[in-house]
Amino acid sequence: MGGLEFTYEEDTYCPWDRFLPVAATAARYLPQGGKVADIGCGVGSLGLWLGFHRPDARIFGFDISETAVRLSISNAQRLGVKAHYAVADGLGACKGPIDLALANLPYEAGEGDDPRYVAGIGGYEVVCRAFLQARYCLSPKGHIVAYSDTAHAVGWMKMWRLLRFEPVEYRQTDESGSTVWVVKDAAS
Ligand SMILES: C[S@@+](CC[C@H](N)C(=O)[O-])C[C@H]1O[C@@H](n2cnc3c(N)ncnc32)[C@H](O)[C@@H]1O
Repeated sequence: MGGLEFTYEEDTYCPWDRFLPVAATAARYLPQGGKVADIGCGVGSLGLWLGFHRPDARIFGFDISETAVRLSISNAQRLGVKAHYAVADGLGACKGPIDLALANLPYEAGEGDDPRYVAGIGGYEVVCRAFLQARYCLSPKGHIVAYSDTAHAVGWMKMWRLLRFEPVEYRQTDESGSTVWVVKDAAS
């Protein structure tokens, strides 16, 4: 991804090239020396891309999968990026304040048991929970940079409104309609 290689195991694979615009967009919103929480970090790709290109950043990553966290730690060591990881549900283990949250989380509705993709009721359960947690961890000037697929873009827009987050930027990143969102707490 963007010139970096990440080690993965079969059940942690994600096509990170597709998500590079999330990390590239995040770099524009990250203040000097800022603290980053990569929610659902997978093998660490987004946060590590950011940490590699912005060595001033302080990178923290969380995933519900122990395998993902183990691979994030080894990818960070191999790339020489200083980052801290923990197994957690959303931002449950995050000690704020953070300046930026990265969120490429599961978004599909359904009954499947693959936590990479299945987000629960209507496809929004994991995402809503993580965003509500973010409200208590984000610094007043903080941003969340998130990814959604085409099928969920309208639903995400409604979700921001309900949760009182406000999009400050959104951009389709490919012809299929995948979207990178930058949002902030409407109340801050
Ligand atoms: C679509 S993958 C994206 C991985 C990574 N962010 C990337 O861009 O390559 C979603 C990730 O969210 C994790 N995940 C699922 N439910 C979670 C939860 N409740 N809390 C934290 N992470 C979760 C999965 O284990 C998986 O690694």
